[in-house]
Amino acid sequence: MTNQNNFTKSRALQRAKVLLGEGLLTSEGALHLRQRRLVQPAFHRPRLIGYSKVMTAYALRTRERWRAGETLDVASEMMRLTLAVVGQTLFSADVEAETGEIGEAMTAILRMFDLLMMPFSEYLEKLPLPSIRRFEKARARLDQTIYGMIAERRASVEDRGDLLSMLLLSRDDEGAGGMSDQQVRDEALTLFLAGHETTAQALTWTWYLLSQNPECERTLHEEVDGVLGGRAPEFDDLPQLRYTEMVLAEAMRLYPPAWAIGRKAIAPFELGGYQIPKGAIIIVSPYVIQRDPRFFPDPERFDPERWTPANRDARPKFCYFPFGGGARVCIGERFAWMEGTLLLAAIAQKWRLRLAPGHRVEPLPLITLRSKYGMKMTVEAR
Ligand code: HEM
Repeated sequence: MTNQNNFTKSRALQRAKVLLGEGLLTSEGALHLRQRRLVQPAFHRPRLIGYSKVMTAYALRTRERWRAGETLDVASEMMRLTLAVVGQTLFSADVEAETGEIGEAMTAILRMFDLLMMPFSEYLEKLPLPSIRRFEKARARLDQTIYGMIAERRASVEDRGDLLSMLLLSRDDEGAGGMSDQQVRDEALTLFLAGHETTAQALTWTWYLLSQNPECERTLHEEVDGVLGGRAPEFDDLPQLRYTEMVLAEAMRLYPPAWAIGRKAIAPFELGGYQIPKGAIIIVSPYVIQRDPRFFPDPERFDPERWTPANRDARPKFCYFPFGGGARVCIGERFAWMEGTLLLAAIAQKWRLRLAPGHRVEPLPLITLRSKYGMKMTVEAR
């Protein structure tokens, strides 16, 4: 991305401050840069190795819970799984037991985002509408949980190896010390929200696409069986699970969870011969670009082979950007690739998923690209 300092986050994300405060997604300028430096170590390699163990453990728990022949909503199964992973990697908390409650609060909040983005929503927010009340209750419940955890950690000062410990331990070089409770809360909530729904959508679409492309599914099974030979996947297997990662990459090409990325121009600028005025909203959509036949011939076709190193290198850089780019590129990108690959491999070792007869599949572009009717699929033993 060029000229990136000429843009701020668009109004939608600025409105998200109501929930996320000044976390990484929503903050700007010097504050963003400082926070980014403070949060970054939570995604360094030694930490990732720790998270990988959590990911596999929860994937195994999920696959053991499923029964041959049952029909599940794979969208909510993936949400439950990635929520459990982020709960454990962030807070060392087993939120799976409370997923129902937290999950409900999250859904209320995500629905609320639609309202927050409407014109005049600043005023709507002050009205005693049931949806606003639900949002405020959900926010209060989440805050209560998170501040409780922060207080507990500050009292014990132990490093539990999770993201929250890292946020509390992090210090910057400029002597400004660490983060206040509120900053830690904002970052934790940001990572919690940004860190599970997107991955869950990516996996949901992946299972759907695999069910429609049995050839690719077979290749995936061969790889998983060949590399793992029946044992659970772990961090060191990742370089060998290449096809698994290619499947994920191709699913995120067709159904990028963050389907649109918006910015507001601070000053006028020129783009491809067009004069863009100050204050203009610019939206770039991975969904649109990643289905452009100039970059991806026969774009509707699901073809993981597009992601062999040679094919990948033959394309221009920004024709594929499910994680954004530049200074605001997704901080959880490596976490997400690792999680997606491990979860996919662990579940595909045991199960094959088939779309339930008559189930309608239609994308629903909210903040993330959901599937409108969930994803009802039948579990078949391999
Ligand atoms: C498949 C999964 C994911 C996708 C598709 C995704 C996509 C994105 C995109 C497109 C952005 C840039 C938004 C913009 O420029 O306006 C972003 C930012 C961000 N993502 Fe992700 N993400 C994923 C997983 C995660 C995970 C697992 C985490 C954390 C554990 C995470 C945390 C964040 C944060 C904190 C930002 C803001 C970064 C900043 O502005 O400095 N994401 N993500």
